[in-house]
Amino acid sequence: MTPRRKQALLLALVGAFAAQTYLVYRDEGGGTLDPVAARGRAIWHRENCQVCHQLWGLGGFLGPDLTNAASRVDSLRLTTLLTTGRGQMPALQLPADEIAAVRAYLVALDRPDRGRGQLRLGREGGGSWEAFHRVAAPLLHQSADSAARRGRELFAARPCGGCHLPLTSSPGGPPDVSTSIARLGPDSVAAILTTGRPDRGMPAPAPALRAEERTDLVAFLTWLGARRDTLNDRLAATVPELQWRWRDLRWWEYR
Ligand code: HEC
Ligand code: HEC
Repeated sequence: MTPRRKQALLLALVGAFAAQTYLVYRDEGGGTLDPVAARGRAIWHRENCQVCHQLWGLGGFLGPDLTNAASRVDSLRLTTLLTTGRGQMPALQLPADEIAAVRAYLVALDRPDRGRGQLRLGREGGGSWEAFHRVAAPLLHQSADSAARRGRELFAARPCGGCHLPLTSSPGGPPDVSTSIARLGPDSVAAILTTGRPDRGMPAPAPALRAEERTDLVAFLTWLGARRDTLNDRLAATVPELQWRWRDLRWWEYR
């Protein structure tokens, strides 16, 4: 490429960047935002919340996505976060009226009726659980353990697999549940299935599990622990399906 062409290309890129920046920052057409929520959005920009947080998957990744934060963060918690901060969330010491405005903005954004933002940790159509269940179902079908069979269905129906990955721990904490029975014993596991461990990221199952459902889940986890190696081998044998491709990487979606 000649130096002149390079210069022209660079100029065009800088021009496009400047135009986009201008459009993004001039975009005060609040759409359907009411005045309080629109003020919240202005505060969002002023405080650079997007440097650490995402909306619809866009933004920084130090803090969580806030598209649906209003449904999980109540006013009291938001007030603490926006005044004294928490962990790497800085103490912004916002006054009460600004917190109310930010809250109104987050409420306006949170539209579970339209969809929910979520991080995807796997392939489309159920991720790695899909392959797991394809391998596990026939094995379980042959076994006489009907409680474990019901437990597997429950495990799939209550979306336990949204946090736990099959036969391995998940990035970000949730442990490998195929080793839980061996490590903790059936009684502690049943207790965790009753109360969760809300302080450590495992919510109490809602609606609560009935006693016989807990028994079925414990039976499934026990079966899982005993068949770990077999399942791992069979999963490895399906490797062509588990191969990772760039175009399968849907790291975030809004649905
Ligand atoms: C320097 C980075 C940073 C900035 C700037 C920042 N946050 Fe945060 N925020 C974080 C981190 C990190 C967390 C997670 C804190 C934790 O739980 O340990 C967090 C947590 C939150 C949560 C709780 C989310 C949840 O799901 O539990 C809310 C709400 C929030 N921030 C709102 C805001 C708002 C509104 C702004 C702008 C006024 C803002 N943050 C600016 C880093 C930041
Ligand atoms: C929102 C994410 C989430 C969901 C949904 C979830 N868990 Fe968990 N689970 C966790 C986290 C995080 C831990 C680790 C808690 C700790 O450190 O003590 C955990 C811990 C566990 C443990 C103890 C693991 C161990 O070996 O220490 C078991 C068993 C378990 N979960 C089973 C389940 C079952 C069964 C379901 C479905 C009914 C489920 N979980 C749903 C996040 C989740």
